[in-house]
Amino acid sequence: MNVELNVETPKTYRGVDALRVLSVRHWTDYTFSFTCERPASFRFRSGEFAMIGLPNGDKPLLRAYSIASPNWHEELEFYSIKVADGPLTSRLQNLAVGDHILIRPKPVGTLVHDALIAGKRLVLFSTGTGIAPFASIIRDPETYEKFETVVLTHTCREVAELDYGKHLFAEIQQDELLSEMVDGRLQLISTTTRENSEHMGRMTDWLRDGRFEAATGAALGAADDRVMICGSMAMLQDHKAICEARGMDEGSNSTPGAFVIEKAFVD
Ligand code: A2P
Repeated sequence: MNVELNVETPKTYRGVDALRVLSVRHWTDYTFSFTCERPASFRFRSGEFAMIGLPNGDKPLLRAYSIASPNWHEELEFYSIKVADGPLTSRLQNLAVGDHILIRPKPVGTLVHDALIAGKRLVLFSTGTGIAPFASIIRDPETYEKFETVVLTHTCREVAELDYGKHLFAEIQQDELLSEMVDGRLQLISTTTRENSEHMGRMTDWLRDGRFEAATGAALGAADDRVMICGSMAMLQDHKAICEARGMDEGSNSTPGAFVIEKAFVD
């Protein structure tokens, strides 16, 4: 797919920056990730999202996407679903190296360290492409400076959808600098709900029936745990209710708390 753009540097399309795509990887029939160049001026906090998209007639078609790369990285990475009739993803899934994507500067979001009060264990609950902001958080040194241990849970319908997270986890272990920084303090729990796998079930059920405690060594609690949640609206509501039942308050950038939530990108 070729996107027509002004050729001046920096490239823009109707006032929005256009960034060159550097790599594309299709993980399943429903998910893919891609990286693009990062302008030196593009700053963000790990866990934030940006408005990205493609040209579309008179004005750009943009959607909120979590940045999956950490804030120190020289490239920007995104992880996306493919929706056959989705206005953006039906086109975005055809991206090829050398194409350009549009991005608005000034990312925002609540899945950031600034929105959490101090704690001992950081627990990141995700479903589907909701893992994207946590791909950023688990590669950020600040995470391991602020917390003693980190647990990332990723629940998907099918086994193949877990690959992105498993691959990321393996990459961290293999990277000399990242593995030294993490120092064995990151745990990944991957579960499926509609296909048999080693670990099955929704994480909300794991929290209620003790499987989360058994797998991580401690039940979720307000004293030590700080939580970030990213998934569908229903998933956010259910996880939020569990956090609140355990005495946690929701945080925001202006008023940090014990847990924060954000909806994963949907179409
Ligand atoms: P399930 O298969 O039991 O619905 P979706 O694609 O619908 O967003 O689902 C992605 C994953 O999130 C699925 O494994 C799904 O489990 C799980 N999920 C959906 N809703 C919730 C919820 N309310 N709480 C926890 N997990 C959920």
